[in-house]
Amino acid sequence: MTTATKPKAGLEDTVATSSAICYLDGEHGVLAYCGHDIHDLARHSTFEEVCFLLWHRRLPTRAELGDLQSQLVAARPLPEPLVRLMRSLPPGNSMDALRTLISALGHYDADAAEQSPQANYRKAIRLTSQVASLVATMGRLNAGAGPIQPDPVLSHAANFLYMLTAERPSSLATRAFDVALILHADHELNASTFAARVAAATLTDIHSAIVAAIGTLKGPLHGGANADVMRLLLEIGAGAAPEKAEDVVRAKLARKEKIPGFGHRVYHTEDPRATHLRQMSRDLGQRAGQTVWFEMSQRIEALVKTEKKLNPNVDFYSASTYHALGIPIDLFTPIFAVSRMSGWTAHVLEQYANNRLIRPRAEYVGPEYPQRYLPLEAR
Ligand SMILES: CC(C)(COP(=O)(O)OP(=O)(O)OC[C@H]1O[C@@H](n2cnc3c(N)ncnc32)[C@H](O)[C@@H]1OP(=O)(O)O)[C@@H](O)C(=O)NCCC(=O)NCCS
Repeated sequence: MTTATKPKAGLEDTVATSSAICYLDGEHGVLAYCGHDIHDLARHSTFEEVCFLLWHRRLPTRAELGDLQSQLVAARPLPEPLVRLMRSLPPGNSMDALRTLISALGHYDADAAEQSPQANYRKAIRLTSQVASLVATMGRLNAGAGPIQPDPVLSHAANFLYMLTAERPSSLATRAFDVALILHADHELNASTFAARVAAATLTDIHSAIVAAIGTLKGPLHGGANADVMRLLLEIGAGAAPEKAEDVVRAKLARKEKIPGFGHRVYHTEDPRATHLRQMSRDLGQRAGQTVWFEMSQRIEALVKTEKKLNPNVDFYSASTYHALGIPIDLFTPIFAVSRMSGWTAHVLEQYANNRLIRPRAEYVGPEYPQRYLPLEAR
């Protein structure tokens, strides 16, 4: 490989594929799904509509939306062996459990052996529906409670909160969670989506591609950051003097540690998703009568902006938003997967529809060629 093709570390700025799903302009802080600005979608849309948009590249008619909602509802109940498997897994990281459970789901899918575009679309709908049931049920079992059966009259967002808490969520909580799902649904060639597309390009099945994505999302540089943000806020402590937040973050920066929830490979301005999550964090905190996490987050945001010129990303205010919704930290990253399943499957379907094996090259930097092979006794 010549120096002209030397790769940028982390493939920064490398355009690796064409896609009609997500438009991202990191200079101006623009994010759009199939041409629809994220701010419009966050204000006016629902997660179900966004799923249809990502899968079909256009908004649904009323009839199409109703049809999709029915299919999502029909897929919600989990196969019984899945719940048994969930109960049998050792306690630990919920993303490990989710990875195993999504893999297991593939065995029970009605179209497991079928790879037609129609079958793959049905699998995309089922995966998107079932990942929510899985994560909510996982939350129940982690809390020592029993699973809750889905309620077919509830929206995807409301049903998730219901299956997690056994209580009908308020309209504010439902809308906040729905918006969080919309905001996380897709983000172009982020690491987990790229992993899913690489797997899909071998023409492996959709469940295998999604398992690759989930393993990738788990990392603290990607989806794992939202849980790390909440751990940081809790480490500072609700009862601490306000200045403690600055002291803790300054000490971390002095140790050259990264502050979770800040920085982004693509955005050089405010992440447009953070704009909504900041407001949701404030509104939900006020409603719950506990604004401490929002206020602490604001102080950290101001400090990191001054000290490092870094903006909060999608994970920063989603932490205090989920906390205000009563969601346990261990489920924060799985919830990212509940939303991103729509984007992952949209990208996998797009990859299948116009596929070529993804097989890049590496710049060789190892020992000079050729090396002489020395027999074992001569080394
Ligand atoms: C998102 C992220 C992985 C992007 O990484 P990247 O594009 O490879 O950028 P780098 O890690 O090379 O960072 C570039 C510089 O900014 C600094 N930086 C980036 N994110 C930082 C953070 N969260 N806290 C402190 N410094 C940070 C790096 O230390 C580096 O500084 P240097 O040039 O002095 O060494 C990175 O910002 C990060 O690790 N953030 C924290 C984890 C997180 O929130 N992930 C969720 C992403 S949505």
